Amino acid sequence: MTNVLRPHAEDQYAEELAILAKDDDRPRPPGWHLSPWAVTTYVLGDGERITPKYIGPRRVVEVAVATLATDRALLLLGVPGTAKTWLSEHLAAAVSGDSTLLVQGTAGTAEEAIRYGWNYARLLAEGPSREALTPSPVMRAMASGAVARIEELTRMPSDVQDALITVLSEKTLPIPELNEEVQAVPGFNVIATANDRDRGVNELSSALRRRFNTVVLPLPAGADEEVEIVARRVAQLSAALRLPETATGLEEIRRVVTVFRELRSGVTEDGRTKVKSPSGTLSTAEAISVLTGGVALAAHFGDGVLRPADVAAGIVGAVVQDPVSDTVVWREYLETVVREREGWRDFYRACRDER
Ligand SMILES: Nc1ncnc2c1ncn2[C@@H]1O[C@H](COP(=O)(O)OP(=O)(O)O)[C@@H](O)[C@H]1O
Ligand SMILES: [Mg+2]
Repeated sequence: MTNVLRPHAEDQYAEELAILAKDDDRPRPPGWHLSPWAVTTYVLGDGERITPKYIGPRRVVEVAVATLATDRALLLLGVPGTAKTWLSEHLAAAVSGDSTLLVQGTAGTAEEAIRYGWNYARLLAEGPSREALTPSPVMRAMASGAVARIEELTRMPSDVQDALITVLSEKTLPIPELNEEVQAVPGFNVIATANDRDRGVNELSSALRRRFNTVVLPLPAGADEEVEIVARRVAQLSAALRLPETATGLEEIRRVVTVFRELRSGVTEDGRTKVKSPSGTLSTAEAISVLTGGVALAAHFGDGVLRPADVAAGIVGAVVQDPVSDTVVWREYLETVVREREGWRDFYRACRDER
């Protein structure tokens, strides 16, 4: 593999994709590299040679994959950290063998990101031509029959979002300057992601909404599932970052996940004690970063075993986003829940010393 910090999914998992393609005798939609069945196996794993990427309900993935085989686009909706971006990358990698046709939606995203722009030097020198045109990722996906990804769709200004309507309904992108158009070839589709919490920022127009099938990505069903997701990703990330080996520290992982779940839900796992929720998200993704940071501390400055002191700083940093109100919430949780909990003495001390 080439020496890059973060290979694209299709490169990192090229071997698994090749195995799937070889054995795949189910029908493939036109332009697809794999059958919908094989795409789903790639995403969820098969317990043998194919590792799971997304951990969650099978049905959610099936509906998402089936949508991509229709003329409707796919909208992955959910709270932050529910693997919308992650799933979208892996779906594009498995369906098209290319996850890089990506538009990042922000308040500043311009229509050129969806349509096309111009190479102004050539435009001025030669006038408008196909050579002077710089296609957007969406235009390239249409021309090559691939999946384009649009991140954070609802953060884009609504007139920019609306540039997608013709693309999705007519499957064409007119270029009036050249009196031409680019028509989508089979295999083209769009996966967009949007954050639940952003709803209303730039609400999708109903015309656009009708072009999408919405799939809501759920939070992990239970603590065990969340621990599994976190443990798996921390191991993968530590390996990718070439962090020195540390003892897995499943106990610390479980502890971080428990703290995050309790603060997120506002009640302790046993259901007995109410706690206040801090302002931050405390998603699975944040738990993954806290633990990866902890692994780095343990490996470089500790004794190679993940210990409470290695995760305490990360936890406090994740929980206390607003220095005034979150500090109060965190102290209260620490004193009323963590302090009393059996077997959590070291963890309590480490957190207390951090604040
Ligand atoms: N159900 C899940 N299965 C696998 N990984 C998950 C899951 N939930 C969260 N993650 C991990 O969390 C991280 C952040 O996910 P991301 O796709 O950026 O979230 P979102 O786009 O929904 O905010 C990724 O590294 C992903 O692997
Ligand atoms: Mg995302």
